Amino acid sequence: MQTAKELANDYRKITVDPIAGALGAEISGVDLNNLDDAAVAEIRRALLENNVVFFRDQEFTPATQMAFGQQFGDLNRHSYVKGLDEYPDVFRIVKEPTDAHHFGNTWHTDLAYEEEPAMATILYGMDIPDAGGDTMFTSLYAAYDALSDGMKRMLGELNIVYTNGNTYGKDAKRFKTGVAKDMDVAQAPEVKEVVHPLIRTHPETGRKALYLSTTHYSRLDGMTEAESKPLLEQLCAHAVKPEFTCRFKWGAGSVAFWDNRCTMHYAVNDFPNARRIMQRVTLQGDKPI
Ligand code: SIN
Repeated sequence: MQTAKELANDYRKITVDPIAGALGAEISGVDLNNLDDAAVAEIRRALLENNVVFFRDQEFTPATQMAFGQQFGDLNRHSYVKGLDEYPDVFRIVKEPTDAHHFGNTWHTDLAYEEEPAMATILYGMDIPDAGGDTMFTSLYAAYDALSDGMKRMLGELNIVYTNGNTYGKDAKRFKTGVAKDMDVAQAPEVKEVVHPLIRTHPETGRKALYLSTTHYSRLDGMTEAESKPLLEQLCAHAVKPEFTCRFKWGAGSVAFWDNRCTMHYAVNDFPNARRIMQRVTLQGDKPI
């Protein structure tokens, strides 16, 4: 007799093994540099079903990582983080043994401060510490589903204001702590704000998710920061309950592919004195609705 897991796993080209209850699955049985259309379709389906998928023992150059991403959508060029000279749509996330700051070390969803934030992100592990440096993910579907009907109704009426200023504006912490290696404060962009729904509907699955990014928000639309703070902090704490999360331990050659429309992630900064180098490609999304 087949187990529930076997019954659920009716993929033909890939094997999909969930790693936690709320989200996250490891996919095996594929070479990401050699996919046919059916395998691409199954990976897309696994991403939509599991919100973040992981692969091991892959070999990406910047060009092949871009080619992998382009099978799922258009590439996004980061507005503020410089890409590789020859491949401006690819950037590296480097933490040297002497660095204290770790890129992505807050719960966030990528590019929430853009009018059209990232659809998905593809991160490739190049140089990985022996221990530490995991990435955590949380399901914003699960966080939404767990709210009471009254809360869902109330939040459904609200919009949230995101800003590039918290991370990239001239007053951002990165300029004070000297971590903005790639940018001088004189080049800090003009601060701009965008308004997105606090509850968004995923354009492919039709499911509702909280649309939260703790690093990037400013306030609820139409309210002051002080008025917004208690509710937004409560929602952010709710959204990262352990039950809604999974955690990925990287190896060299691992790939994580996450859907920014229904997840947040957190790069754990627990590897002092070690080097970690990742290579990132980001897929363009559309305006949250
Ligand atoms: C990111 O937030 O894009 C980076 C995550 C990580 O390095 O684990």
